[in-house]
Amino acid sequence: MKYNDTQLREFGLARESLPRHVAAIMDGNGRWAKARGLLRSAGHRAGTERLRDLIRFSSDAEIEVLTLYAFSSENWARPQAELSVLFSLLVEYFTKEIDELHAEHVRIRIIGDVSRFPANVRRAVTDAENRTAENAGLQLNIALNYGARAELLRAARHLCEEYAAGGPLPDEAALEDALYTAGQPPVDLLIRTSGELRVSNFLLWQIAYAEFYITSVYWPDFTREEYIAALRAFAARGRRFGGL
Ligand code: IPE
Ligand code: IPE
Ligand code: MG
Repeated sequence: MKYNDTQLREFGLARESLPRHVAAIMDGNGRWAKARGLLRSAGHRAGTERLRDLIRFSSDAEIEVLTLYAFSSENWARPQAELSVLFSLLVEYFTKEIDELHAEHVRIRIIGDVSRFPANVRRAVTDAENRTAENAGLQLNIALNYGARAELLRAARHLCEEYAAGGPLPDEAALEDALYTAGQPPVDLLIRTSGELRVSNFLLWQIAYAEFYITSVYWPDFTREEYIAALRAFAARGRRFGGL
């Protein structure tokens, strides 16, 4: 169900001041668990539980793109036991949620290099991508083994190959087309939970003019209400893009 203008107003939101592209660094699962005397794995599970409401709200508010940082290219540095937990949660998530996502016309795009993941993870995410490829609703990018430097390097190499084959010198549009986010608008709102004031190698090109929303709330506590608060804060920002 899509919200009409009156329904959006009840959330304190207006259609014309919604971001087109929201990106989130879903951080703080471990600290959430620690604060409750639980294992880190319980934090990751609780973090996964937050996705449904967020995706739903984005879809219903007709935000065009939602990009979620699920696993960075630096996260391989974690202990094998934690990696195994993250991988099994990924498979479980895509298996359990895919029907509902598809029914809501969500289109899933994996950004990052999935070749390093175990076969069952690769299969689950590729199936989700293929099954939803024709959907015209919310574009949901899931960043897996994603690093912005690697993405830019990959794009640069691609452009070099095109140039070597006789193509023109690339411009900004050509570089954008060589990124994972080709065809999507730039990030308007970048959310980071758990209070860290850093970008951690996420979407360096795409966030050039993004508004940052940093909250001390840990990801498993980032409810729909917290998301709405972030969208309201975004609406109150004065964006100038270098102008006056
Ligand atoms: C985010 O939570 C999830 C991933 C990076 C996979 P963390 O696991 O980084 O949680 P903290 O930062 O240790 O609290
Ligand atoms: C960023 O969180 C990556 C994801 C949320 C997937 P990290 O917890 O890995 O980031 P750092 O290590 O604190 O910068
Ligand atoms: Mg972290």
